[in-house]
Amino acid sequence: MGIALREKEPISQAIFRAPVRISFRIYERWRRATSRFRGFDFDGHRYRYLVDPYNTTWLTERAVEVPIVEREVRDAEARNARILEVGNVLAYYGDFNHVVVDKYESAPGVINEDIVDYSPGNKFDLVVAISTVEHVGWDEQPRSPEKLTDALENMRSLVAPGGRLVVTMPAGYNDYLDARLRDDDLGFDWLGAVRRRHRWSLRWRSIAVGQMTFRPWRSIGGANEIVVGMNRF
Ligand SMILES: C[S@@+](CC[C@H](N)C(=O)[O-])C[C@H]1O[C@@H](n2cnc3c(N)ncnc32)[C@H](O)[C@@H]1O
Repeated sequence: MGIALREKEPISQAIFRAPVRISFRIYERWRRATSRFRGFDFDGHRYRYLVDPYNTTWLTERAVEVPIVEREVRDAEARNARILEVGNVLAYYGDFNHVVVDKYESAPGVINEDIVDYSPGNKFDLVVAISTVEHVGWDEQPRSPEKLTDALENMRSLVAPGGRLVVTMPAGYNDYLDARLRDDDLGFDWLGAVRRRHRWSLRWRSIAVGQMTFRPWRSIGGANEIVVGMNRF
């Protein structure tokens, strides 16, 4: 057995191919350098930031939380899974055909029910909520922060065996939620976090939940960190 030697390229061919090789290398360097501006890594997946005029998503946490949840939903759709979204968010950014429960927002097909009371009599393979649970009880009258745990409990009761719950929550918006996240006693099996690279950055990166700072949510730009909570059943 001999070692396979690469045939030497004739000089004429090498001269002809050199510009192609050089441009490819330049392109690859440019692609690697700029990809960190276009996306972020989270839980073993690469995501592109959501850039959409509705809610100027590139400025806010929507840039990262919608792609994370959309991936879950598209995977579930491919399996013909039954999907429930709590809080009407995804419909603003694409075509979806799942059940949506939102207490206050009127839109075609949206079920206007309180998530604490929603009891359709059937279960779902995937239940998702994007930046919604922090409003439950906190932005309602009378204020009742503990209602958030009732909402999560009901959402879990709606997941079928083998299914999952995926919830994104901004940090720094709801003090009660922040305290429960710090103590990790909201009943999630798994928690992950994504944070802006610096305070005003439009770029985000994954961090451990223990590294979170819970910097206050701002009316311009929204959250500095989001938490993703999951349960598998
Ligand atoms: C993320 S916002 C959605 C805002 C808007 N759809 C958007 O993306 O621009 C959270 C949603 O949670 C809904 N919500 C608040 N409390 C609720 C409750 N107790 N049950 C169900 N939905 C609730 C609100 O009506 C609101 O639409």
